[in-house]
Amino acid sequence: MNIQVFDSQEQLDEAAAQYLIDTVTQKPEAVLGLATGSTPIGIYNKLVEKHQRQGVSFRHITSFNLDEYVGLTADHKQSYAFYMQEHLFRHIDVSANQINLPNGMAESLEEECKRYNQLLEKHPIDVQLLGLGHNGHIGFNEPADALTGGTHIVELQEKTREANARFFNSKDEVPEKAVTMGVGSILKAKTIILAVRGADKADIVREALFGPITTQCPASLLQTHHNVIVLLDREAGRGLKLQ
Ligand code: F6R
Repeated sequence: MNIQVFDSQEQLDEAAAQYLIDTVTQKPEAVLGLATGSTPIGIYNKLVEKHQRQGVSFRHITSFNLDEYVGLTADHKQSYAFYMQEHLFRHIDVSANQINLPNGMAESLEEECKRYNQLLEKHPIDVQLLGLGHNGHIGFNEPADALTGGTHIVELQEKTREANARFFNSKDEVPEKAVTMGVGSILKAKTIILAVRGADKADIVREALFGPITTQCPASLLQTHHNVIVLLDREAGRGLKLQ
């Protein structure tokens, strides 16, 4: 694993954005796997800035988001579809037919998972951006005795709903289920960028990167991938001996 620790959040955002831009510059029709949550916001700000100031173009990319809550419409302020428009898509040169998110409002969620898996098979991901949950989740693949390879419906753990309650008026409003890309699809990406910040993630970072590979810490499966770039701020990396 290529692990890089940055002194500031700004530097981390810049490095992650630069990886994505390098990918798009070398391959304008790149397929990008995107994440939501608080970690990527600064990274997306950098992409928007580089699009506006340096003319970096996303006109030919295809994007796939990791996950979406079940039961939230795309115009719900806490849906990931809304988040992506707010933080990235509406500020850059992508059109609706280039972007893909699971539809958490689909009449048949089972069919929706199949549809998403078929799309992912047709469009192998060049770079997948990931954040890390406090419980070791990636996407919404929560710790469990067994994990699922493809896109599937997941019951969110209490810890995850509590962590995400900060975006809602209360924890009760956080949906109980989500549609998520599976770990199999994530691990098929040619390159994976795992971005993590904050002292509260230091323990899980150490466990994920250097602990046993176990479904109880889904991010530990990243240890089996040949091309993972880990970008940490100093606080998230403080449990590691590299510094
Ligand atoms: C979001 C996602 C989640 C988050 C994780 C960390 O699309 O897939 O796995 O990356 O929950 O979230 P933050 O960045 O808010 O700490």
